[in-house]
Amino acid sequence: MPVSFTIPYIDKETSEQFETQLNKARQEAERLFEGICSGSEHTGWLYLPERMKSELIRIHQTARKIRQQSELLVVTGAGGSSIGTASAYKMLKPESGVRLAFAGSSFSADELSELLTKCEIMDFSVVAISKSGTTLETALAFRELRTLLYKKYGEKAHGRIFTVTDKENGILRKITRDEGYESFDIPADVGGRYSLLSAVGLLPLCAAGADIRAILDGAEDTAYGIKKNIRDSDVIKYAAARQALYLAGYKMEVLSFFEPRLSGFAEWYKQLFGESEGKNAGGIFPTSMKYSDDLHSMGQYMQQGQRLMFETFLKIEKAPVDLIVSKGVQDGLNYLEGRKFSYINNAAYESVIRAHTSGGVPCMVLTVPAVNEYEAGSLYYFFEFACAVSGLISGANPFDQPGVEEYKKNMRELLDKIKKDKDI
Ligand code: PA5
Repeated sequence: MPVSFTIPYIDKETSEQFETQLNKARQEAERLFEGICSGSEHTGWLYLPERMKSELIRIHQTARKIRQQSELLVVTGAGGSSIGTASAYKMLKPESGVRLAFAGSSFSADELSELLTKCEIMDFSVVAISKSGTTLETALAFRELRTLLYKKYGEKAHGRIFTVTDKENGILRKITRDEGYESFDIPADVGGRYSLLSAVGLLPLCAAGADIRAILDGAEDTAYGIKKNIRDSDVIKYAAARQALYLAGYKMEVLSFFEPRLSGFAEWYKQLFGESEGKNAGGIFPTSMKYSDDLHSMGQYMQQGQRLMFETFLKIEKAPVDLIVSKGVQDGLNYLEGRKFSYINNAAYESVIRAHTSGGVPCMVLTVPAVNEYEAGSLYYFFEFACAVSGLISGANPFDQPGVEEYKKNMRELLDKIKKDKDI
């Protein structure tokens, strides 16, 4: 399997717990595949890599159309409807297609107006993504962008609007039907944060020039590898180790990485695990560190602050881009002349893992061979599976998010009041 897992250091108590959690993880993984786990009605994501292959032709055709008519594709979406896509775009940096911009995950007029100004200058299309269709941040941004599209392109705006939403339900589906916009479905059995490998992520990424077939191949091979060897799969070990550490008192996981292009991935990881496990007054708190940047800020806390956290290093074996330290400058660094930056970055990784281990932070390592579409597909699937199993071991339903509804309910109440006042 492309992503591999090791625990360089684990204390005795955690190691005993690890065996117990490993057995639980194996059982939960089997129940997940058998469709008898908690929340099993939302486990369609397991099969997306295979299922989506039949939609590839239409996704490619639509993406080509977007590329032909636009320089910029604005993705409106929040949470699972955009974080994954933004993360893969940042990680893969595809260049042969349109540029992507993201809107609809906040009510910031500052952010939206900056984007609208850009859209006035550039040729653009919009893909509105929302499973429920009711997310207000997304709906409002779509409204403003749609208005600008019609103002700028007249009736031709119609061909620049695409939607990805539930097949049957929601206001976005209704708008799509009423207006006849080109659209893709989010399968009913796939929840938002597990939907990256559906048209949610594949359409914009394809328009941006990413090789989406390779993404699906990487995910499919990983799914196959897990299924073939549930007992000894690294993803099961990672999920079990997380829970063992949690029970040993480490309530926080820090996902650390040394390549800034993974910072979007860390946002996706936080959403995935936070929404999946943060339930019933429990769950591991997911956070992240971008090194070396954070070595010069949060590094102090990691080394000597409260011992709350364990750390999972996301290590890229082959640097996506490398440089060689140049010659001939008198700055005391000549001993590094001719060395690769990746060599020095790796020395930083070795130093940090050693320091944090000796500082009492249990460390784990997930190694990814390289940054490309195939490995990205594998990595996303690996984390989705790990999250599902880890959440299931902890007793949570990792596929719902009842807590997110609370603020939406309050928001609706507040806005309903405005609506009533206006009606009077
Ligand atoms: O994981 C989830 O289900 C959430 O993060 C949703 O993706 C997010 O709230 C956006 O929802 P929707 O796609 O319905 O607009």
